[in-house]
Amino acid sequence: MPLTPVLSRYWDEPQSWTLDSYRRHDGYQALDKALAMDPDDLIATVKASGLRGRGGAGFPTGMKWSFIPQGDGKPHYLVVNADESEPGTCKDIPLMLATPHVLVEGIIIAAYAIRASHAFIYVRGEVIPVLRRLQTAVAEAYAAGLVGRDILGSGFDLELVVHAGAGAYICGEETALLDSLEGRRGQPRLRPPFPAVAGLYACPTVVNNVESIASVPPIILRGNEWFQSMGTEKSPGFTLYSLSGHVTTPGQYEAPLGITLRELLGYAGGVRAGHELKFWTPGGSSTPMFTAEHLDVTLDYEGVGAAGSMLGTKALQIFDDTTCVVRAVLRWTEFYAHESCGKCTPCREGTYWLVQILRALENGTGTEADLKKLLDVSEAILGKSFCALGDGAASPIMSSLKYFRDEYIEHVRGGGCPFDPATSTLFEPVGAP
Ligand SMILES: Cc1cc2nc3c(=O)[nH]c(=O)nc-3n(C[C@H](O)[C@H](O)[C@H](O)COP(=O)(O)O)c2cc1C
Ligand code: SF4
Repeated sequence: MPLTPVLSRYWDEPQSWTLDSYRRHDGYQALDKALAMDPDDLIATVKASGLRGRGGAGFPTGMKWSFIPQGDGKPHYLVVNADESEPGTCKDIPLMLATPHVLVEGIIIAAYAIRASHAFIYVRGEVIPVLRRLQTAVAEAYAAGLVGRDILGSGFDLELVVHAGAGAYICGEETALLDSLEGRRGQPRLRPPFPAVAGLYACPTVVNNVESIASVPPIILRGNEWFQSMGTEKSPGFTLYSLSGHVTTPGQYEAPLGITLRELLGYAGGVRAGHELKFWTPGGSSTPMFTAEHLDVTLDYEGVGAAGSMLGTKALQIFDDTTCVVRAVLRWTEFYAHESCGKCTPCREGTYWLVQILRALENGTGTEADLKKLLDVSEAILGKSFCALGDGAASPIMSSLKYFRDEYIEHVRGGGCPFDPATSTLFEPVGAP
């Protein structure tokens, strides 16, 4: 399957982030087209395109927009989720650095469609260069009359705010994000009501991922037939696959949905020389891991789901035979325990105990009974937590026990980690530029 660079097609050009560069690449032409359409037709077009949210769950974008009640007399809001904190997920930040205007154009189109006159980009606070680049792009767009009052003479008004988060993974969860944006501590909200009914300031709100919104201008400009000529029937279009870890050339590979890891590794120069693929994540650390037997799984929502995992954010973290799976899972679990917001008991207490058990296994004080305990605690978290962070914490443990039980047992019988720290790369990134 060939690569299909659409969003990433001119990332390597000098000054790719400026308004001038964007205009040279058909920038803001989709906006002209969209503003000439009725907002409802615009929603129907995005719905018919089959675009699915790129933030993890794959929810159809147009359908989400159609849930916003119209004629309700309340303000509507569009919030772009640019928190990107999942281990392995690294596509939105490069996109915003290289081509912030495609996101700005997508935001104006989406806000017009759902009749929102305020939009926010909630950016992970640590990424100062991204914040600056977005602020510059938004200022350029205001100066060019693309944002603000009476956009391009259409009568449509939009205020666009770039908001810096304070650095918590949970603030990527859409309802925690809304609480954080309102100035509260970021913790998930009980649903219903869903954000489409009562979101930001209790008003109808669409929360979409950066890549979802950035995919809208090319779809509007080039049409649904073009979009559906890529990908599969239920997962149409192009998307960014992020390859990291033990791969010869890590980076972003934009390809049709439904490509396989075997094909992507072909483009990325394969697993680093002299080593074999051991395990990998299809969609970031919170999606159940795969092994070499899954190299030909089609990387669309259905294919990955049928093989027992989730496409998530398409963050393909590659681990070779020098990696201790128990140690990798411990490092992820430490992350989830640290990032657990503490609102619900299964996740708050469970992630703490998972870390203790995994540490014991790594340092040689674990027992075979601990493997059952790991599963018991994971089962008490999975599907029983208040939000999906808990499920994400249980996934690497349950899937690694499914595929690498023998390696766990080796840790118990051999009195600790069998990998030699001198030769094992453990969790160190290898081959990064
Ligand atoms: C713990 C947690 C963290 C999340 N982090 C992000 C994130 O950084 N960016 C994102 O777009 N979605 C994230 N999500 C998913 C969002 O809740 C939401 O589904 C998404 O923003 C919807 O956008 P989409 O429909 O365009 O995919 C996270 C979910 C959870 C449970
Ligand atoms: S699952 Fe974890 S992160 Fe989510 S609400 Fe419960 S404690 Fe907070």
